[in-house]
Amino acid sequence: MIPLAVVVAVLFVLLWRYISKYLGYRALFNSLTGEPSFSYLLGSLHKYPGPNEEGIEYDFAMSKKFKYMHNMWMGPLKPLLMLYHPDSIRPVLKSSAPKPRGGLLSTAYDMGSRWLGEGLLNSNGPRWVRNRRLLTPAFHFDILKSYIDVYNECSNILVSQIKKLSSGGQSFDLFEPVGLCALDVIQRCAFSYHSDCQTKGENEYELAMSELMGLWINRNFTPKHFLEWVYSRSPEGKRFYHLCDVVHAVSEDIIDKRRKHLESGDATTKNGPKKIKDFLDTLLTAVDEDGVGLSPLDIRNEVDTFLFAGHDTTTSGTAWTLYHLSQHPEYQEKIYEEVVGILDGRENITWDDIHSMEFTTMCIKEGIRLDTTVPLIQRDLLEDTEIVGHVIPAGTTVCIHLYNLHINPTVWDKPRQYMPERFHPDKIHQMDPFQYIPFSAGSRNCIGQHFAMNEMKLTVANIIRNFKLACDVSKPARRFLTPTLKTESGMMVYAEPRVK
Ligand code: HEM
Repeated sequence: MIPLAVVVAVLFVLLWRYISKYLGYRALFNSLTGEPSFSYLLGSLHKYPGPNEEGIEYDFAMSKKFKYMHNMWMGPLKPLLMLYHPDSIRPVLKSSAPKPRGGLLSTAYDMGSRWLGEGLLNSNGPRWVRNRRLLTPAFHFDILKSYIDVYNECSNILVSQIKKLSSGGQSFDLFEPVGLCALDVIQRCAFSYHSDCQTKGENEYELAMSELMGLWINRNFTPKHFLEWVYSRSPEGKRFYHLCDVVHAVSEDIIDKRRKHLESGDATTKNGPKKIKDFLDTLLTAVDEDGVGLSPLDIRNEVDTFLFAGHDTTTSGTAWTLYHLSQHPEYQEKIYEEVVGILDGRENITWDDIHSMEFTTMCIKEGIRLDTTVPLIQRDLLEDTEIVGHVIPAGTTVCIHLYNLHINPTVWDKPRQYMPERFHPDKIHQMDPFQYIPFSAGSRNCIGQHFAMNEMKLTVANIIRNFKLACDVSKPARRFLTPTLKTESGMMVYAEPRVK
């Protein structure tokens, strides 16, 4: 038996360490940007309007006031330093600061780990180093080239879906068909799976993924659910766990069937001959220098990660770009001229074509600046770090607010205006390397960024050469920040076919 005095002493030391740590943070935050009225129940969450339009305006006002950073308490025990200027972000992304994981209170990354496990997005340390090395070949140009046919096929289906949705001249929610197209693309490229989701709608697996994302973001704003013990016993937690099981069962089934196919030397899929080397092939055949491959659980985690990271992101980037274009007919015409000129009467868009689309690329870059696809990422400082003249202690969790960085009025001229010209190749080299980082920067940057840009360029080009888009101004899109930027209200546009 441990004597009671020892138990009391240990508890006292823990309590003391905990109190001094949080008093330290309150003093530090006060000295940096002042304390936005702190509540012992909610931290500063009661001041934050939420992950929506009002929340964007709140953070924007902070960047006008503080320029580099401000503090935020995600509940009384979770201090967070929000960074949104190249000078405050640079020291963090240039360091090897890991993703925040594994504390008493779950972080955003911990919350996703039941679903995505220790896949590339979530993991840290030697596991991440090894897996990043093993997976990098999956994004080699030679592999990416073979996906061009997939992008063409899927975006042609999207064009016919948009024709149907707009056939009566009414406006429709653009986000939905664009999302199904992106899902179709990633399912074909990840494991050569043709789900027909664009024409038949989402199946159980896809609906489960959408719901998981919603539950994940809600948990981030519910302090009592930061404790895994509490969350796992709540109705939301039980639902989250159940949906994870649904998604895992489907991924495991797909992996299992492919493994058997590979072992039997049969190069076909359920839906006919498999023409491309997909991500799953890379995962199943990747081995390190000792000849050791990924474990079955590693493979499932990476499949789930690619599906998650490679679907909602390109949906958001493509949809927000098209939404801005729907408010700028002059830019649509420039894209149209560019694409028609490059194609010169050909139907399908090729690898060389997408690399010649200078103006289309500028429009996408500006689209994912003004409405940044992945609005927020986080890191834990490994060591004391000087950030714009202040020493921030090791162990602090910082949030790199990419959305706010990209509209920071102390960084950008006319930050809230859609102006693709700012991404003219002659101007890009004048930018600070940490001023425009939609795919993040440093060692943990996006592994899928070329895949994503190729897909978005081809999709935007194909839509604009087929339709004139116009925004339905009576129903403006309201932004909603989840791990990716979405809309609360839909993204209502009109689409007029160019050839009737
Ligand atoms: C517009 C499209 C995309 C954007 C803006 C984007 C953005 C990002 C960002 C900001 C990160 C850093 C996340 C963090 O630090 O927590 C990231 C990481 C990642 N992205 Fe993307 N992404 C896009 C598309 C894709 C696609 C298509 C894939 C896969 C097919 C993908 C796979 C990943 C993975 C696996 C990581 C983790 C990389 C690592 O830590 O090693 N992304 N992405």
